[in-house]
Amino acid sequence: MTSDHWQTIKALPQASLNQLFNEDDNRVANFGMEHAGLYFDFSKTHLDLAAVAAFQKLADDVGLSVKVKALLSGEPINISEGRAAEHCAERGIGNAASVGHAKALHQRMKGLIEVIDSGALGEFTQIIHLGIGGSALGPKMLHQALKLGDEKYDLAVVSNIDGVALEPVLERFDAGKTLLVIASKTFTTAETLLNAQTVLDWMREQGVADPLGQVVALTADPDQAVSWGVDETRILPFSETVGGRYSLWSSIGFSVALALGYDVFEDLLAGAAAMDEHFRDTPWAENIPVLAAFADQYYTQVRGCETRAVFAYDERLNLLPDYLQQLEMESNGKSVTLDGQPLSLHSSPIVWGGVGTDAQHAVFQLLHQGTHLVPVEFLAVIEPGNSLSPAHHNGLLLNCFAQGAALMAGKKSDDSHRNYPGDRPSVTILLEDLDARTLGALLAFYEQRTFVNASLLNINPFDQFGVELGKQMAGKLAAEDGNRLDASTEELKKRAFGA
Ligand code: F6P
Repeated sequence: MTSDHWQTIKALPQASLNQLFNEDDNRVANFGMEHAGLYFDFSKTHLDLAAVAAFQKLADDVGLSVKVKALLSGEPINISEGRAAEHCAERGIGNAASVGHAKALHQRMKGLIEVIDSGALGEFTQIIHLGIGGSALGPKMLHQALKLGDEKYDLAVVSNIDGVALEPVLERFDAGKTLLVIASKTFTTAETLLNAQTVLDWMREQGVADPLGQVVALTADPDQAVSWGVDETRILPFSETVGGRYSLWSSIGFSVALALGYDVFEDLLAGAAAMDEHFRDTPWAENIPVLAAFADQYYTQVRGCETRAVFAYDERLNLLPDYLQQLEMESNGKSVTLDGQPLSLHSSPIVWGGVGTDAQHAVFQLLHQGTHLVPVEFLAVIEPGNSLSPAHHNGLLLNCFAQGAALMAGKKSDDSHRNYPGDRPSVTILLEDLDARTLGALLAFYEQRTFVNASLLNINPFDQFGVELGKQMAGKLAAEDGNRLDASTEELKKRAFGA
């Protein structure tokens, strides 16, 4: 613990959830927040007004207001890479120059969508979107969440270098009707470029005369895309200051905008902007991303929780935990502070999760009776996403709410095997409907919460040097230059590839 404020927070009395409810008749109102089609129930966390007050002092101490201003005005807050983090400018929140630049690039994207829709580039009905990490997880999750099933374009997002991911798509798709979208901020990522080359080869084998004529590139490095062979008119650039895991608001959202309609993409941006405005303008005690981060820090630093579980009670959101894993763990899985000193607090919890009700029959045993304390986040959508009997959706929502209640209440039994300790925290997020606007607000909430967590920890959420060493080692292992890695790794290589 670094500052006196952390000591104060740690020394706060730790009442149980039941006690907190008994002591405060207005607990649900005090800890329920609503904005942009989303309702957040923080009442089943151990935050009380005293804890919130103590965290507010910590927030002031770390200069959260200054940090938020710096984020939203495009100051170079990603200090290890000497640049700003301007994903909010993509949705219209930022300095005028960056917002104007983002708007111009969105217009370019819209223009290309119109050209493709008109059939001027070919009669496309299928899209292969290649990318990995931030260049795939967002688009894939968004498409899965928002598609209705009657769209003009069939979109397949492929990320893995494992041919098992790409091969079935090539078997299913018609090369002549396929638009290849290569999404890579750097345009150097090995997995994406190998997959792209394989798709081009497949197109050629299938008789496409000019495969490169069917390629669109989404990148912050247009020169790389040009040297790879993509025509300049079909390159959709985005700013270097938009981080990969924060990039779905930029041209990285192109495939989704094409598949679902540009208006859907605009709604997504508008929903995110509504959450950004709330984040920018609301005092900490009523600020939704800030309160969520207070709860995160409480569980991580005070209660020693090493993980946080996210369960979407909606099949359409089944990729949300994967998306959040990158957002939170790649952002805040750091061991040094902004000035390079060892971090004396715990960094990001491990984020994991799944969909309800499936997860109830698989992993919830540990949540109810295991020795780990795992803060849980439930998500549910009030409007059903299917037209079957209401019994399905009602059952889904009731199960979601019952799990939060059971985790909190527990149930005492003289038989220790059948005893539920209870007092286990959860946050529930209710979406009025699963539409682009609400989803945009939800994702912006997660981004801003991640930023507040980083600010309270005094770390940089916008670099990711931790992923580089493995990439370098893969290169070294592939090189036949006589340099060897450790004996164990060399033995694995020998067994796989021979001497
Ligand atoms: O390896 C990590 C990473 O750099 C992520 O941060 C990024 O989202 C992903 O790889 C893909 O990178 P790119 O968009 O440059 O291909």
